Amino acid sequence: MNAEIKARAACLIGWPAAHSRSPLIHHYWLRTLGIEGGYNIEAVPPEGFAEFVLHLSTHGFVGANVTIPHKERALALSMPDPRARAVGAANTLWYDAGELRSTNTDIEGFINNLDACAPRWDAATDALVLGAGGASRAVVFGLIERGIERVHLANRTLPRAQALADQFGANVHPVAWDAIGELLPRAGLLVNTTSLGMHGQPPLQIDTGRLPPHAVVADLVYVPLQTPLLAAAQARGLRTADGLGMLLHQAVRGFELWFGQRPQVTPELRALVEADLTKV
Ligand code: ATR
Repeated sequence: MNAEIKARAACLIGWPAAHSRSPLIHHYWLRTLGIEGGYNIEAVPPEGFAEFVLHLSTHGFVGANVTIPHKERALALSMPDPRARAVGAANTLWYDAGELRSTNTDIEGFINNLDACAPRWDAATDALVLGAGGASRAVVFGLIERGIERVHLANRTLPRAQALADQFGANVHPVAWDAIGELLPRAGLLVNTTSLGMHGQPPLQIDTGRLPPHAVVADLVYVPLQTPLLAAAQARGLRTADGLGMLLHQAVRGFELWFGQRPQVTPELRALVEADLTKV
């Protein structure tokens, strides 16, 4: 086939790159929007990553998602936007006038999912974020950008929360893990960014009964789909936003950058990915 008329393709670069849901998501959008394009999985070891990324177009790709363990290297090897720089990691690459650019779409994935699941969640003045790893940086950046007045950041290892607060400024307040209980009554938004509650991990022990009645609870964990934290919040009638919603919303921007159309997160797409996550 003539290279000129070859369909556009993007890929996911990881090591290992197995069992990612990204191909399912992007193939759904390509199919439903009638776009002739592709989305491949590329397992690239750390020692081959720089060569692969610096010659992404030669490898046949207009852009890429990047996952573990390459996200920090991807940032260093491209021209990152302020979001990727703030998070310290890039998960989406694309070409802009021949230049390899990068961003981090976890921030908008988190915020757009909250907007979709719990409109007016940003009326909260106080948010309580649990965890201070990479995912937490994206969450905290998004909350500050949206104008949340106080972001309380609780982490098992307090110095990590302090380091994050130092980076993001006076609106972020690091707190010890055992201070969570006393902060719950004023948390209009509670976000779990830790691995607690994930399949195979201990549950997150939080008394959702102490949250105010208007509180919104978000969990980044999506295996299982409904974590014990989300189940408890829903049983109390609180609004929730789950990790799968964030995963779907964070994929939107990459697709738009590579294929030129902004796709929708539809109930049909969610059902498709849910079915894949729950199959044995
Ligand atoms: P990610 O990039 O997904 O955020 P990470 O950087 O490994 O992953 O961060 C994992 C987060 O889960 C951290 O905040 C971690 O707390 P520490 O900084 O103290 O390690 C938190 N976490 C993991 N297991 C935990 C546990 N058993 N109790 C409390 N927090 C835990």
